Amino acid sequence: MVATTTSTSEGWSSRSAFILAAVGAAVGLGNIWRFPTLAGESGGGAFVIFYIACVFLLGLPLVLSEVFIGKAGQTDAVGSIRRVAAQSKASPSWAIFGGVGALAAFLIVSFYSVVAGWVLYYAGIMGGDLVQAILAGDPFRGALAGESQDQIQQRLSDMFASPGLLLGVHFVFMGLTLYIVARGVSSGIEKAATYLMPMFFVLLVGLVLYGAIEGDIGQAAAFLFTPDWSKLTPQVMNSALGQALFSLSLGVAGLITYGSYIKEGSGLGPTSALIAVADTCVALLAGLMIFPIVFAVGLDPAAGPTLVFQTLPFAFQTMPGGALFGFLFFVLILVAAVTSSISLLEVPTAWGIGERGWSRPKSALIFGGGAFLMGIACLLGYNVWADVRPLGFWSLFADTDILDTVDGFTGKVMLPVGALLTSIFIGWKADKNLLLTTTGLSPLAFGIWRFLIAWLCPLAVAIILTTGLFPSIL
Ligand code: PFF
Repeated sequence: MVATTTSTSEGWSSRSAFILAAVGAAVGLGNIWRFPTLAGESGGGAFVIFYIACVFLLGLPLVLSEVFIGKAGQTDAVGSIRRVAAQSKASPSWAIFGGVGALAAFLIVSFYSVVAGWVLYYAGIMGGDLVQAILAGDPFRGALAGESQDQIQQRLSDMFASPGLLLGVHFVFMGLTLYIVARGVSSGIEKAATYLMPMFFVLLVGLVLYGAIEGDIGQAAAFLFTPDWSKLTPQVMNSALGQALFSLSLGVAGLITYGSYIKEGSGLGPTSALIAVADTCVALLAGLMIFPIVFAVGLDPAAGPTLVFQTLPFAFQTMPGGALFGFLFFVLILVAAVTSSISLLEVPTAWGIGERGWSRPKSALIFGGGAFLMGIACLLGYNVWADVRPLGFWSLFADTDILDTVDGFTGKVMLPVGALLTSIFIGWKADKNLLLTTTGLSPLAFGIWRFLIAWLCPLAVAIILTTGLFPSIL
């Protein structure tokens, strides 16, 4: 590690630019694909309510902590933590958790791009189908007219069986991510968020209204909000807590990096709250968009990870306007995925710039290229390397393919470790005055934050980490 760190001169052009970019980072595949999948598998209401509690009691204090470190440090995650540690007379070794975060972000973006590639492929299928519907003079027909449910399901298996196809869509998505990150903070990341996030919200509201009109929103709301507390097992709590961290982009130093581009102004408390509220609203709206459609056609809400790729296309087939709204649905997920993947790639890229002194394009190319190569291993795990179990010696990952191993290891190990170290650092090591002046919190809000970050977060995260790694102790 090089000891000198260069302050970044890059920055957001306004407070709202930071908020849009940070909300764009938080809102992603985690909200629209992972959240409804987990809620469906875990029985709905109790999971959702516990998830919301995790977001506000643990997630929000951590969001504020990460944004604080970035704002106070003004450089990449490792350098920012080192600066805050120096100003707080704490050991510089705390900077290591910034490095762990940057590594986790690098690993996550490698498989995130592969999954986003599937979405891209499906957007292509649905787009082609919409064009056919328009040419046939029936633009409001259902999607994939004439295909049986088996044929629709077969599309996913066929895609997994084709390494060339998976590679192509992964290449396009990673290329786009790299291009935006290489252009820089204000002319790349900020511009992308400024165009894409409004588009995302318009699409989301449109699709929720569509679900409400054409689907069974009453049953969906009952499913999502009526708790059956007997379903709240330790495993369900564990996955709700993990999902809260993933969805808010915590533990990978993403918000430290974005926070470092805030040049002036305080008010970090309301800004962090806005990020947490917006991310949670989007997850709930995604549930209220997907489940009415699933229930309307009598499908299984607990279909798991294939919900979006097999269940929904079939549902769109049976609904009026399905060809159009099915296409818009995949465009929506794609938009959300781009604004998140750029935030992931930005973390190691900023490290290369701040700690190694590389130029931005060089750093983005090294990490984007590296993540692309890692992603190839993940996608081959669906076909030619289907039998490979990278962490097969570990019972937790004994039967886990390459992509799910990278996802599981980052989600179950690296993210909670990052969150745990962040909470201990902020709760016990960081200088109080620095915390107060940088965040601009009122004394009451400051007291609540300090309590949550010093006591509740470390304890709760330590529990998820242990129960996640050693499920047998439950
Ligand atoms: N929060 C993103 C999602 O919900 O899809 C995933 C993510 C993005 C995690 C950025 C971590 C991160 F730094």
